[in-house]
Amino acid sequence: MNLPTDSSAWLVLDSVDSTQDHAIRLLREGTMTSPVVLAHEQTAGKGRLGRSWDSPRGESLALSVVLAEHKDHSRPWLLGMAMACAAAAALHCRLRWPNDLYLGGKKLGGILTEVVQGIPVIGIGVNLGQKEFPSEIASKAISLVQHRDGPYDALAIGSKILAQFNRTPPLHDWADLAPVWDMFDDTLGKNYLLPSGDEAKAIGIGPHGELLCTANGEARTVLAAGAIFGA
Ligand code: BTN
Repeated sequence: MNLPTDSSAWLVLDSVDSTQDHAIRLLREGTMTSPVVLAHEQTAGKGRLGRSWDSPRGESLALSVVLAEHKDHSRPWLLGMAMACAAAAALHCRLRWPNDLYLGGKKLGGILTEVVQGIPVIGIGVNLGQKEFPSEIASKAISLVQHRDGPYDALAIGSKILAQFNRTPPLHDWADLAPVWDMFDDTLGKNYLLPSGDEAKAIGIGPHGELLCTANGEARTVLAAGAIFGA
């Protein structure tokens, strides 16, 4: 991977609806000037599975990368999982399948992987400076500053994460990523809600990056691409 780590080579926006949607618009129009898009504020940030993602000004990292060199990758979700590993290495946090960043049992950030015209577009959102969260998520979310005093600079942290991501080995299958993921894994034993509506307990990650779990006494697998959410 060869993404620019110096923010002077990125498209840095003061405010945008979503870095992900903006990167995708530029990709579709053929007007991309950088594979990295960062915004200091998102007004309509997107999470996985149609959820929204808050990125308040000056308090969060919101960055999307366009991985044109990985066009038609056979398992694009592995690239999202590799970005999660890069963030875990840069931020010293833990990982929960499929690519959530956790600190002290609370969600610090997440990764959104989309494929447009065969090209993976990966968005990274990290809570940096929030001193408190809206009441609906206050018990589940954490920021870096709540964990350890800041300040935290989005450009510097984005750069650190991309430098780690550039070290990712060629990714064909889960086995290429598993040794790194395992260093940060906090998935085993966690509860997940399956697409079927059943509750499941995580027992591992399978050969293609899928979740292995048990639900109603039976072993089940869930593809990262079709995952519902981690409860
Ligand atoms: C999740 O649901 O855990 C994934 C959150 C991903 C949020 C990031 S912020 C940068 C990029 N732009 C978006 O609109 N979403 C992603």
